Amino acid sequence: MSKKASIFWQVGAYSNRGALIPLDVRFFPLLEDLDLIPRNRIVWVRQHGLHGRRKFSARHETILWFTKTDEYVFNLDPIRVPQKFQNKKAWKGSNKGQLTCHPGGKNPGDIWLFRNVKHNHEEQTVHPCQFPEDLVSRIVLSTTEPGDVVLDPYMGAGTVAVVARDEGRHFVGAELDPDYHAICQQRLSGEPDENGVFPNLKTLRDYAARTGTQASTLQFAKQVGRAPTDRSKARIYPEKHHRQQMEERLEYEEECFAADRRGDSRPSSRDFVPSTHEARLLPLPGLTD
Ligand SMILES: C[S@@+](CC[C@H](N)C(=O)[O-])C[C@H]1O[C@@H](n2cnc3c(N)ncnc32)[C@H](O)[C@@H]1O
Repeated sequence: MSKKASIFWQVGAYSNRGALIPLDVRFFPLLEDLDLIPRNRIVWVRQHGLHGRRKFSARHETILWFTKTDEYVFNLDPIRVPQKFQNKKAWKGSNKGQLTCHPGGKNPGDIWLFRNVKHNHEEQTVHPCQFPEDLVSRIVLSTTEPGDVVLDPYMGAGTVAVVARDEGRHFVGAELDPDYHAICQQRLSGEPDENGVFPNLKTLRDYAARTGTQASTLQFAKQVGRAPTDRSKARIYPEKHHRQQMEERLEYEEECFAADRRGDSRPSSRDFVPSTHEARLLPLPGLTD
């Protein structure tokens, strides 16, 4: 590792007959023993997942960030997100009338709400546990410079390589399973396999846009039933949408629980689901539903 290098270690929990070990708790001291310096413990939250029957349903994983030295890279500008009160101005003092926050937005914080890559996600391949590209992109953009090398020793469907390539970084990786390795290669080449099948809808749509082919005439590996559509028909939901939906949902669940405890009637449901039109207008690049 170079003195500017970082390591991101994304882990869930190991579950064995009902007992649960949060793996980052075990990995943290191992990384410290290598003289690496801890910077963040990022919590990746998801709304959906398996429902626990004898314990609380797991809805987060963690990403440990360690650096080799204090000379690490951290570029905030490419990953800023909108402030809650983006245009607030100082009303007194020498900065009166000036914006009180960074005009480019704020630090996204250490709670991330990228939707996991499951059904209906444009990036989904046959790999069972892919990272969302946006999650990887936040890491790559903030902790590497263009032209740097990104290493992923467990490539799976090749998300890290795809993002590194798209963000102008070099990449190196390893993947044990030849079928997943083939998916990595297809995602990177942007071409269909020998049977004319794309690894995911995203690669198919990119190919359709690049070559002027009708998306509906193409096929991808996780396709069920209907013909693929091109991207203009996709609903784009950025992280902001998922966070808002999650916050509203949690707030609603708490209000229902409080009402139950007090014997009050529950508030009516108010799930946040923007219309397709609203979703298309949301400003950040993001995920698809
Ligand atoms: C959780 S998946 C990674 C998914 C990946 N981040 C993505 O977005 O597609 C882990 C992958 O590591 C691979 N793997 C496990 N042990 C490995 C090893 N010793 N060397 C290389 N790959 C390995 C598995 O086959 C699996 O595809």
